[in-house]
Amino acid sequence: MKPKIILDCDPGHDDAVAIMVAAQLTEILGITTVSGNVSVDLTTENALILAELVDLDAGVHMGANKPLLIPPKHAEEVHGKTGLDGPTRHKVTRQATSSDAVQFIIDTVREHDEVWLVPVGPLTNIAVAILQAPDIVQRVAGVSLMGGSAGAGNVTPVAEFNVWADPHAASVVFSAGFANLFMAGLNLTHQFGVDEETILRLREINNPPAVFAAELFDFYLRSYQQRTFGQQVPLHDPCAVLAITHPEIFSFESRNVSVETEGIVTRGMTVIDERRWSDRASNCQVGYEIDRDKGMNILFDVIKTYSDN
Ligand code: RIB
Ligand code: CA
Repeated sequence: MKPKIILDCDPGHDDAVAIMVAAQLTEILGITTVSGNVSVDLTTENALILAELVDLDAGVHMGANKPLLIPPKHAEEVHGKTGLDGPTRHKVTRQATSSDAVQFIIDTVREHDEVWLVPVGPLTNIAVAILQAPDIVQRVAGVSLMGGSAGAGNVTPVAEFNVWADPHAASVVFSAGFANLFMAGLNLTHQFGVDEETILRLREINNPPAVFAAELFDFYLRSYQQRTFGQQVPLHDPCAVLAITHPEIFSFESRNVSVETEGIVTRGMTVIDERRWSDRASNCQVGYEIDRDKGMNILFDVIKTYSDN
């Protein structure tokens, strides 16, 4: 039985691959979009492009166009002006099913048992859904998110983009009391990197999603190397999906995680209590390791299942 999920995202190169992986390994009840890497108009258009590419049955629901309290932040330097720079951009034929992602999340969780929420962008939609319908916290199977870090940040020395872009929303999510909350932070996702060899293997698969992913990575890897001199570009968002479908390739530790919302230097930091004698109750399973080779083989196996037409 495939896990039922709502994928909340801000496509985004790595979000796009998360959609490809989730479409095969999970039952996507819906995709919800949020302002993040680029504006929500563009993240929604990008999600529709991916939904068409993978022939997704579920709908795309547009969500928050700005964070809870602070002005919108984007990452065009990483993902390009469209948020999906690289592949030739085709006009989408699909329309968004609704422009109320929050209501879709609330209704879907109330109508279905054992739904996983998989947010891989800023947590605005999830936070608003919790604030409007606190009953969903107990109803969901859990939350598996890409965000934060048990180490260095990316946007600042200590803050990761998804949490930094809406720290107040992240604080709502981490303090909501979810029984199962998995955090795939940068300390983990930086172990799951894409390189030239990955791109070559995708081109060898040579079906439309594989070629699209290879063209995404050509841009994403080049852009990342220009900014960081890194050899591999981290494939962040698929980690949040694989944490549900293949927990055996990860190691997680129970931790107390809180979010700095006010700090001048530290705003957006996920503060993880590593003290063994901590008096703070654990509220999160923090990811510390992923078996990259096993994860990449799962990724290639999933992409191979797409047909050639
Ligand atoms: O910091 C990495 C995260 O920010 C990823 O989800 C990426 O897509 C961007 O949203
Ligand atoms: Ca993302």
